[in-house]
Amino acid sequence: MAAIKEILAAIQNPDTTAAEYAALELPESYRAITLHKDEQEMFAGLESRDKDPRKSLHLDEIALPELGPGEALVAVMASAVNYNTVWSSIYEPVSTFSFLERYGRLSPEAARHDQPFHVLGSDLAGVVLRTGPGVHAWKPGDQVVAHCLSVELESADGHNDTMLDPEQRIWGFETNYGGLAEIALVKSNQLMPKPKHLTWEEAASPGLVNSTAYRQLVSRNGAGMKQGDNVLIWGASGGLGSYATQYALAGGANPICVVSNEAKAKICEAMGAEAIIDRSAEGYKFWKDENNQDPREWKRFGGKIRELTGGEDVDIVFEHPGRETFGASVYVTRKGGTVVTCASTSGYMHQYDNRYLWMSLKRIVGSHFANYREAWEANRLIAKGKIHPTLSKTYTLAETGQASLDVHHNKHQGKVGVLCLAPEEGLGVTDHELRAKHLTAINRFRGE
Ligand SMILES: NC(=O)c1ccc[n+]([C@@H]2O[C@H](COP(=O)([O-])OP(=O)(O)OC[C@H]3O[C@@H](n4cnc5c(N)ncnc54)[C@H](OP(=O)(O)O)[C@@H]3O)[C@@H](O)[C@H]2O)c1
Repeated sequence: MAAIKEILAAIQNPDTTAAEYAALELPESYRAITLHKDEQEMFAGLESRDKDPRKSLHLDEIALPELGPGEALVAVMASAVNYNTVWSSIYEPVSTFSFLERYGRLSPEAARHDQPFHVLGSDLAGVVLRTGPGVHAWKPGDQVVAHCLSVELESADGHNDTMLDPEQRIWGFETNYGGLAEIALVKSNQLMPKPKHLTWEEAASPGLVNSTAYRQLVSRNGAGMKQGDNVLIWGASGGLGSYATQYALAGGANPICVVSNEAKAKICEAMGAEAIIDRSAEGYKFWKDENNQDPREWKRFGGKIRELTGGEDVDIVFEHPGRETFGASVYVTRKGGTVVTCASTSGYMHQYDNRYLWMSLKRIVGSHFANYREAWEANRLIAKGKIHPTLSKTYTLAETGQASLDVHHNKHQGKVGVLCLAPEEGLGVTDHELRAKHLTAINRFRGE
């Protein structure tokens, strides 16, 4: 406890030197949000909606893991809730302990991750405390954010695109010692500079979703969006969608934002979007029953899109709801266009009419997180004030269960932050001039 207090005091003193950071005593244990392996079956038989993350997520004191080669221990000032926190906490579609067991079989270093607890969290903003052997690019005292790509890169497969590494994992989801904690263990190649004009909680919030949206929409590994493209964005004010909307606008494309209520529509409008569809108000029912879709509803949806675009169809669909929307997404894409998907929130067994795909020469592209370079470029855009965090609300570490329930029940806007070591919101800004320039955009999702 004393060691944690001293770490926080060092971070709050702007004059602390790298040598002083390196000399800080590390605690033997720290507080972290965990799942317990002996509770994997706790929600058996319940509907997804009734599985309550407040019951499965615990705030525990856990032993500090040993630092290995190429790794860093980071004092976490703030983290964020991602949908993967929800999946983990409701043990769907599978228990994340199966990932840890599999990883643990890889090597003695990886075996550290296979524990009876799982520390979650795939985002962080904080300060480097220690680096392991072989780490030269980062040192104690560096203010950082971390992306969540964990790779081994021992195989040739990952050397053109690190997402293709056979041992690619999402840190804090498929590995242990994630960011929803006072200290996190990362591979040093996850680290990137913390954007100086942002608070800890703002800096921590874009990480996973911003990088994912960047690859999925902008990168040539994803849809390779270009100026003038019509981009249909599902969940346009949500975690992924709030960044996809910004990328479309910043890249000269035309976002067609789909949301489910007035407040969400307003926030898309405030971001600068002009074409917005409230899917609840329109009452789309793409499925007639559990097994059959209704092509007339796809058509009605396509008609609404044309109404908003002056008769044009969409070049790109930014897909993630999955089963419920995928048939409609394939249908409304223009001839030669692209459906790019990174998730299946409403179900992963998709159904679509393949005639609309092959006859109209459309493509379906799978996309997952981002490679190091893409994550770096996405963070660089945040640091330059070209893309902004979409933080709406911040919780304490102890309230992570409630924060996850809000995301699970789709009650949130943009991103939900979590304060870890940071005693309050608003700390960590070092470039006040850049912040002042973008304050309205930075606060756009606040209080929503
Ligand atoms: N592969 C990857 O690397 C990766 C990375 C990030 C996230 N993901 C996955 O992507 C999904 C979304 O993540 P997120 O962070 O954006 O979550 P989020 O913050 O909850 O946003 C998702 C949005 O999708 C919309 N939505 C939800 N269910 C829908 C449905 N049945 N039909 C139409 N729209 C629906 C909702 O917006 P409205 O209610 O306003 O329409 C919601 O705000 C999750 O499954 C997550 O696990 C994957």
